[in-house]
Amino acid sequence: MTDPISLAQGRAYLAIPGPSVMPDAVLQAMHRPSPNIYDGELIEMMPALTRDLCRVARTDHNVAIYIANGHGTWEAALSNVIAPGETVLAPASGRFTHGWAEMAEGIGAKIDVIDFGSSSAWDLDRIADALRADTAHQIKAVLAVHVDTSSSIRNDIPALRAVLNDLGHPALLMADCIASLGCDQFEMDAWGVDVMVTACQKGLMTPAGTGFVFFNEKAQAKRASMPRVSRYWDWQPRANPELFYQYFNGTAPTHHLYGLRAALDLILAEGIEQVWARHKRLATAIWAACEIWAQGGALQINVADRRHRSHAVTALRLTDGRGTPLREFTEHKLGLTLGIGLGMEDWDGCFRLGHMGYVNGQMVMAMLGGVETAMAALDIPRGQGALEAAAATLAA
Ligand SMILES: Cc1ncc(COP(=O)(O)O)c(C=O)c1O
Repeated sequence: MTDPISLAQGRAYLAIPGPSVMPDAVLQAMHRPSPNIYDGELIEMMPALTRDLCRVARTDHNVAIYIANGHGTWEAALSNVIAPGETVLAPASGRFTHGWAEMAEGIGAKIDVIDFGSSSAWDLDRIADALRADTAHQIKAVLAVHVDTSSSIRNDIPALRAVLNDLGHPALLMADCIASLGCDQFEMDAWGVDVMVTACQKGLMTPAGTGFVFFNEKAQAKRASMPRVSRYWDWQPRANPELFYQYFNGTAPTHHLYGLRAALDLILAEGIEQVWARHKRLATAIWAACEIWAQGGALQINVADRRHRSHAVTALRLTDGRGTPLREFTEHKLGLTLGIGLGMEDWDGCFRLGHMGYVNGQMVMAMLGGVETAMAALDIPRGQGALEAAAATLAA
């Protein structure tokens, strides 16, 4: 008999891997009449906003802002440095690398995809083989997704930089930090990343709609050698505007900018290293619970090796295929929305826990409690003591 009582009334919790939970400070900053876009506060706040974005990205170089989602920043970045007929190398550990490569194909690039499947991080030896074989240096960029949100794999960007350096290969290193910025450690300059794309709706805790492309001098030199770059995607005026409208090539995303300002203030007040440490500790507690559940034989953590797990999202699989019923239970019965399985052949059996951005210890314990409750309701075999293991990790 199904239980007619719903326990979903109350503050709902969206624990999907983006858009993430929005801080009240962000919501409140956006709750205002439209500002003047020709004079005053909005114009004056831009230099500090771009500087602080660069602080979070750990770069002293440039940032261009786009009114776009992550797909838009993929295309924006590619459009500035990849001409039709040029080749990009895409080492894929999940759906999003394929997506970026398809975007490159769409602007006329040749794509060379090395597919590592959806549960394995990059094999750097295979990437090195592909680069070594490219003696004519036809590969102009490597599209490197730092955290693939579909699989929850976290790839080793500094190690990839080392491969390029060791081989003396001049390809640009382009990183997708859409799921990792503001969650996992990322150091654009120290790690030798030439171009980085991200968007505002995950670690940056702002409603979807603005995206960012960071680039260094090496990338700018490639941009300068391009036969043409479409006016709208051109990062040059956006990164070095003489007039306010050039930041956005048109009307500013007014309210997003206020929301973003509030989000950056939160991140910088906490400290970016502390933000990374918080995400790491919360992720470790989630893994502790999942590893205990997995002892029952029905649940698998998609990424076996802890060193390659994202600190912002965890992809899980129920071997009996009941990922969707589990999500439906948590959402409709408990008010807890979990992420769908994405890019997996058995997507219906998969689900993802989002733990990015404005998330703290009690929220993670509530999310794990929701999953435990759903597993009890669905009679899913599981190891006992998962919540205790998570609590012990947070208490340590
Ligand atoms: C790693 C990664 N890259 C790219 C995207 C695409 O971003 P968007 O959906 O904002 O276009 C996503 C979205 O979740 C993502 O997680």
